[in-house]
Amino acid sequence: MDDESTFSIMKNPIHNKHIVLGVCGGIAAYKSVELLRLLQKQGAQVRVIMTQNAKWFVGPLTFEALTGQPVCTSLFEKGDDAPIRHIAWAEQADAVIIAPATANIIGKLAGGIADDALSTFLLAVKCPVMLCPSMNTHMYESKAVERNLSLLKADGYFIIEPGAGKLACGTIGPGRLPEPEEILDRMVSCLSRRDLAGKKMLVTAGPTREDIDPVRFISNPSTGKMGFSIARAAEHRGAKVVLITGPTNLPDLCNVTMVRIRTSEEMADAVFQHMEKSDIIIKAAAVSDYRPREPAKQKIKKEKDEMVLLLQKNQDILKELGRRKKDRILVGFAAETENLKKNALKKLSEKNLDMIVGNLVGDSASGFGSDTNKVTLFFRDGMVESLDAMDKDSVSHVILDRLIERILPMKTE
Ligand code: CTP
Repeated sequence: MDDESTFSIMKNPIHNKHIVLGVCGGIAAYKSVELLRLLQKQGAQVRVIMTQNAKWFVGPLTFEALTGQPVCTSLFEKGDDAPIRHIAWAEQADAVIIAPATANIIGKLAGGIADDALSTFLLAVKCPVMLCPSMNTHMYESKAVERNLSLLKADGYFIIEPGAGKLACGTIGPGRLPEPEEILDRMVSCLSRRDLAGKKMLVTAGPTREDIDPVRFISNPSTGKMGFSIARAAEHRGAKVVLITGPTNLPDLCNVTMVRIRTSEEMADAVFQHMEKSDIIIKAAAVSDYRPREPAKQKIKKEKDEMVLLLQKNQDILKELGRRKKDRILVGFAAETENLKKNALKKLSEKNLDMIVGNLVGDSASGFGSDTNKVTLFFRDGMVESLDAMDKDSVSHVILDRLIERILPMKTE
């Protein structure tokens, strides 16, 4: 194993964790197979407990083959790995996910009923338990289910809101099991260190587009991956996050306030609107420095052999934030093709930043669109830290670590 993957694993709270996946009898049970695969990909050791009704929807053999472990389906089966399997599993579990969680298991758990393997196991569990309700909309909205879910919430269970849409039963409304990726994301959040709890963070990401005419624009190849990764990592670590992003193909992040903008002027408006409520601002966006001074109202025709496009400088949003920051923490990025240290330090001081994350564009391990990044961190007190190439999620966690270790204590002195 190389250093890079060792690092990622250290930051992944699911790696090597014992997770028990409880599957109940609902049409969404098929999605729990995909969820199991995702958890395994993150390095989790997963075991499965199924209710009798779940067996109508997915065969225990599927889970057995994928986990390489016996599947627990009954209170009284003879376990080859433990004398009383559901109790032993409860003791060993680091986390439990019930997906799908039917009205039945929700009712049993809320009432303390233990009459099968899953409900008995659940009463014996001491670790975090995440319930993913999935059922017909009318059932989900019934007084009984609503009451049981609020009881369970008060008891400390993590409840994932079901998605809304057209359900398998034909009704339209809430009740759909969230996609496995979302459930995984919530599990990571649930097991992460919450060292940014109580902090309000503003992150920017992606490119901006500056219109030339109705069908053309000036932009850059930023995909938004770095900014999205920082926002996701901060949310997992307990921060309340607003993500302002230019056009990207990336989907909205769970539990993050998403603001999608197009132009640098729209980004500036959104940033200044949200800055007052933020304690920490990280500007990873690749903002266009210039925009066409007068975008054409109609498509420009190719009549001339040459044309001149008059550009006007955009506001430097980060610099303005630096002026207004007061005791907020401000982190910028510097994408350079040469003289990284000199250019990054100049931006650090001119924009009044606490830290700047510099990277050399063109390096194969870093830059636009890449899944990895090789960055150097420059701090206000002169300290410089060059990081090895690593995946962008790991870079995000190091940035947040340094922020917590080196910058936050200075602000609270
Ligand atoms: N930035 C900004 N507003 C701009 C331009 C840049 O907020 N109009 C921010 C970026 O989000 C980044 C930092 O400033 O955090 C540095 O951006 P970069 O493009 O590396 O440098 P510039 O300041 O634009 O300077 P130059 O293009 O001359 O290198």
